[in-house]
Amino acid sequence: KNIALVAGGYSGEYVISVQSAAVIEKNIDAALYDVYKIIITRESWLYTAPDGRGYEVDKNDFSLTVEGRKISFDAVFIGIHGTPGEDGRLQGYFEMLGIPYTSCGMVTSALTFNKSYCNKVVAQLNVVNVSKSAHIFRDKPYDTTAILSQLRLPVFVKPAEGGSSIGMSKVNTAEELQPAIEKAFKEDSQILIEEFIKGTEVTCGMFYASGKLNVLPLTEIRSSKEFFDYEAKYTPGITNEVTPAEIPEAAAAQIRSAAQELYVRLNCKGIVRADFILEESTGNVYFLEVNTMPGQSENSLVPQQVRAAGLTLQAFYGMLIEECLG
Ligand code: DAL
Ligand code: MG
Repeated sequence: KNIALVAGGYSGEYVISVQSAAVIEKNIDAALYDVYKIIITRESWLYTAPDGRGYEVDKNDFSLTVEGRKISFDAVFIGIHGTPGEDGRLQGYFEMLGIPYTSCGMVTSALTFNKSYCNKVVAQLNVVNVSKSAHIFRDKPYDTTAILSQLRLPVFVKPAEGGSSIGMSKVNTAEELQPAIEKAFKEDSQILIEEFIKGTEVTCGMFYASGKLNVLPLTEIRSSKEFFDYEAKYTPGITNEVTPAEIPEAAAAQIRSAAQELYVRLNCKGIVRADFILEESTGNVYFLEVNTMPGQSENSLVPQQVRAAGLTLQAFYGMLIEECLG
């Protein structure tokens, strides 16, 4: 079977995507699948052959022509974080072409990629607490005084459609809000401003395969920094990521059950990682986000969870591919 592994993308998470794709490529069983890694940027969709020659994808049918031979794909492994691989754009394109792919569908990807709209839908589902927030747009008026009268400090200011904490700040005082908004608007035209919940971040990877939803061991994030920012996420040693999480079993059960409920109710497919905060003072669980293309790099959480589940990455990626082939 020919599998296209797409990586890169248009966002600040390009570098992480390339690292994720390297892990995926290394762990896809070469005896079963012929993998063609295609790097997607705004300028080109490029496959580089082992001899170093580059071939552009024909976007009309997502095929390659390598030395006169046309290659079509049985499935696409989407390895792009951020746009256009995690936000529904490529999903819509592959749906139009009828090529199966290993991720959530177009609508689920687009919804979960926007942290503001996703929060609103998740709050409606009543499966987990969602912290209070405001949603503002660069090209529409907004009133920071009104926002601060509705939300309790500290708050997190996040690009609504971003990842890996790029452009994100924790705001402790009213004066810090406007600079944080300006920083986030450099990354995206819309922003989520969300009340901070003090506690431990706990994350749950899940994937549907062979007729059932598999829930991976939870990871607890003990960051020595103020929050789990880009540096803490990708610099080994800065953060203590504990898998399985050493949290009370009742909290773990609550998080697993909220995660599974979200997977089903949001109509997820493939590997998804749902992130939560376990509030320190109350033990309440708060929703953070759903990642439909969670990181697969050497420092990412899902590969740690897969190994902790006693699975090899090769078996795991094989299950994802088989599931999408149907
Ligand atoms: N956005 C990063 C890649 C993650 O969720 O793991
Ligand atoms: Mg994310």
